[in-house]
Amino acid sequence: MANTMYQRDILSTKDLSLENIQHILDTASKLKQHPVSNLIKDKIIAQCFFEPSTRTRLSFESAALRLGGHVLGFSSDENLSIKKGETLHDTIKVVSEYADLIVIRHTREGAARLAAEISDKPVINAGDGANQHPTQALVDLFTINECQKRLDGLSIALVGDLKYGRTIHSFAEICMLFDVRLYLVSPEILTLPEPICDILKKQGIRFSFHRSIEEVIPKIDILYMTRIQQERFSQAEYQLVKDHYILTPEHLHHAKSNLKILHPLPRLNEIVTGVDATPYAHYFNQAANAVYVRQALLALLLNEQLP
Ligand code: CP
Repeated sequence: MANTMYQRDILSTKDLSLENIQHILDTASKLKQHPVSNLIKDKIIAQCFFEPSTRTRLSFESAALRLGGHVLGFSSDENLSIKKGETLHDTIKVVSEYADLIVIRHTREGAARLAAEISDKPVINAGDGANQHPTQALVDLFTINECQKRLDGLSIALVGDLKYGRTIHSFAEICMLFDVRLYLVSPEILTLPEPICDILKKQGIRFSFHRSIEEVIPKIDILYMTRIQQERFSQAEYQLVKDHYILTPEHLHHAKSNLKILHPLPRLNEIVTGVDATPYAHYFNQAANAVYVRQALLALLLNEQLP
């Protein structure tokens, strides 16, 4: 198969075809089973993180190092010349001269797309405001395929902050390429944005709105929990919804035996730690898979000849 991912930007799940996604997941699976240590030998990855991150930043770093690459970058704008008034435009322009690929996380929606317009090196969106987090959606798909052995014919509940959760937006959009049934569980003020619902409808994806986990748990194969994004709305609104969904082992008494619980993490109190020891908990496996999926992305974007 020709590598159509070579030198591409990864900005939104909408930019990825089913063929692209299958290529990424197959490559991740191969790298998980048979590690290769030189696929991006001597390439430099710039990690431009303007917003906090544990998994995304460190799994990209681990992925790059495991493939023989090098990493430079920053994890906040604290020590950057942006503090002296330099623009994002000029920062990216300069960083793109120092690296072969840029990974960017930013508080502003559209920042990754702007970076891609400025940089002549590939840009990966590692989260832009409440908009998109496409590589997380690929990690989610990889994990679902691994634990359910399929991506079609599944019933999936998305629970929590569906309005501001960028992992949800990317995941819901990538679901359109598969035959899935979605249960959207959220407080009224945090429902999935209308433009995404419109696209789901247009693509013929079956979905329904719910207020409680109990309503949906006996029907689903995947329970995708999310954190309420405290940083994206007012403190008064946050107080109203912050403890809305707290998953406990008791909820799981009526679960299907194949149910797996995912969460992009970090979690606050929405999954009690008692759930971790149940056979349903799969969120730490999901976080571990981030390295293989991000290895696949770096390898495909930087190697024209990769099969
Ligand atoms: N899943 C995720 O994006 O986690 P971090 O914010 O820790 O990178």
